[in-house]
Amino acid sequence: MNVDGPLADKRIVLGVTGSIACYKALDLASKLVQAGALVDTLLSYGATQFVTPLAFRSITHRPVVTDTFDPESEFANEHVALAHQADIVVVAPATAHTIAKLALGLADDPLTTTVVASAAPLVVAPAMDGNMFHHPATQENLEKLRRRDVVIAGPASGRLASGLIGVGRMLETPELLGYIAFALGRNGDLAGRTIVVSAGGTMEPIDPVRVITNHSSGKMGYALAEAARDRGARTVLVTAPTSLPDPPLVEVIKVGTAQQMCDAVLKQVETADALIMAAAVADYRPTAEAEQKIKKSADELTINLARTTDILQAAKGNFVKVGFAAETQDLVPNAKAKVSSKDLDLIVANDLTDPDSGFGTDTNKVTLIGRDLQVEELPVLTKYAVSNRILDRVLTLFRS
Ligand code: CTP
Repeated sequence: MNVDGPLADKRIVLGVTGSIACYKALDLASKLVQAGALVDTLLSYGATQFVTPLAFRSITHRPVVTDTFDPESEFANEHVALAHQADIVVVAPATAHTIAKLALGLADDPLTTTVVASAAPLVVAPAMDGNMFHHPATQENLEKLRRRDVVIAGPASGRLASGLIGVGRMLETPELLGYIAFALGRNGDLAGRTIVVSAGGTMEPIDPVRVITNHSSGKMGYALAEAARDRGARTVLVTAPTSLPDPPLVEVIKVGTAQQMCDAVLKQVETADALIMAAAVADYRPTAEAEQKIKKSADELTINLARTTDILQAAKGNFVKVGFAAETQDLVPNAKAKVSSKDLDLIVANDLTDPDSGFGTDTNKVTLIGRDLQVEELPVLTKYAVSNRILDRVLTLFRS
């Protein structure tokens, strides 16, 4: 269970309505529970034709509501209690019919009653046939909901149940989790701020098929971007190639080389409140990229390298500047030296020789060093939890 995550201890009302995508709602319920949330499921009559209340009950270990007037259900007596307790209401899948009811504010079943009675954020994940989605009525209803600050998650394009290819598929669980975290944190302590995060290892081409790169997985930078989003920041992620999916509701700018990252970061910081450079940027690049694949001939090959621009040094302006220092020896002295050479407000130092830290792991053990060179050593934490500790420091810097 990811108790560090944005969904830990959250009370989530999951409304499920009648679409074939109901099977995906079971997976969503399961992942929400695994993330530490308490999930109450409300099934529409249509949904019960696709999936059973028992399936959700088995996953969430909570009663499932299907009928407003079922005398056996607590909901009959206290049908607004769930609405008042919820931290968030998620309707997934949401049919065209339910979206229309929500837009009108109707309250004729447990789910719509709960939505109308709740002041919690609302996430709606449409799932329907492409023509139903494009119908002006559906579009107008979605627009109405957006104007009320409802977060509309999807739909995605792809193969629909009808066999046609088009827009209308419910988003997959990992993306929906991102939307839910975003909606929960929308008014968080970083709301109104823009945070630029860099991630991944840059790739410096040698020839059309070869590059110089490093072992950075990008996980630290992606976790930072998600944590900033989940606290309400407008988040821009400038990323070198990684195998990670784009975090939803983060503005992702994909780059390859150190120079491309430099150009993108320098442009983005013009409107940023903070820059956090988690990327492993190449310090050297081949002086020239061979036009054709280099063939093997001599026993030795020399590639001339030239220094790349130090992005942190080049980034100047009225924003909080955070760097990382990945070291294999003399962690604290090396990191302290970078605070002044790169003019940083904060440096995040990690010891690459520590098995809990560094490339590819889901955890990190870092030491934070501020401009005053005070050292704060953190325990081993998930990269998401490390991100929040860094963002706590960034927030303090904003306030000072
Ligand atoms: N960095 C940067 N531009 C570069 C190289 C590094 O902005 N061309 C940033 C990194 O993103 C990181 C910090 O500088 O936030 C420190 O990176 P690191 O590789 O630890 O240090 P270097 O400055 O490259 O110094 P060295 O390799 O000598 O340790």
